[in-house]
Amino acid sequence: MKIKKCLFPAAGYGTRFLPATKATPKEMLPVLTKPLIQYGVEEALEAGLNTMAVVTGRGKRAIEDHFDISYELEHQIKGTSKEHYLSEIRSVITNCTFSYTRQIEMKGLGHAILCGETLIGNEPFAVVLADDLCDNEDDGVLSQMVEVYNKYKCSVVAIEEVPIEDTNKYGVIAGSIISDSDQESSLYQVTDMVEKPDPKDAPTNLAIIGRYILTPDIFDILRKTKPGKGGEIQITDALLEQAKLGNVIAYKFKGKRFDCGSVDGFVEATNYFYEKTVLPD
Ligand code: G1P
Repeated sequence: MKIKKCLFPAAGYGTRFLPATKATPKEMLPVLTKPLIQYGVEEALEAGLNTMAVVTGRGKRAIEDHFDISYELEHQIKGTSKEHYLSEIRSVITNCTFSYTRQIEMKGLGHAILCGETLIGNEPFAVVLADDLCDNEDDGVLSQMVEVYNKYKCSVVAIEEVPIEDTNKYGVIAGSIISDSDQESSLYQVTDMVEKPDPKDAPTNLAIIGRYILTPDIFDILRKTKPGKGGEIQITDALLEQAKLGNVIAYKFKGKRFDCGSVDGFVEATNYFYEKTVLPD
């Protein structure tokens, strides 16, 4: 089945960005002039996904307003020299649909994804964590992952090598390389996954970043998944159940990833996009 839907867990508090995130969703923080979540939506659209499903929470209404028409603004700006500022967001709104559900309690990423079941149903889907901002000159990271999914028809997680001392910030995988000349040894059959292990316990330094393709059996697994690291329901633990059946592939993606959930990563992304983009007048 073709992947059409992309889930955006967006209920988190963004405490690391307080006070900016007190009344503004962290997903709406801009890198240059574009909110983080719009980068994620554009990456999904580029991968051929046009149905966006957003798991929001209290205080997140700005996300819904962002992906809607503002009639006052359209009226003010129409025919002026400033109209081009709206072209990207207009194109997003025209080319995809958005639906929303709320996560009532913060019980972890696995729980947030399970909340999205009502919007996803029984089909494979992508997950984008908007604070991991990805960029590639050619195909975007989700496009690359959709290609992997189309070949193997199982869950796919994006990974990158991180310094071993950072393994406690990520889900970490172990696996065996699938030899594949096309993908240049970038595919692993996952054999183990651990959420945020101490460096001394980490099976490897291959960290999962915020891009997933999940098959819908993940929902039944999540329903049975007990709270894990930090007392939260972890997607990593649910994926391990699929991995035990040989149904998870880790993909070392091509491109850059910025951890915009941290101030350092956010500044790095801002500098990178500033240098890359010619800012409109
Ligand atoms: C989540 C996941 C973790 C993954 C990370 C990627 O953690 O639980 O496995 O490596 O996203 O960004 P979080 O960053 O939400 O703490």
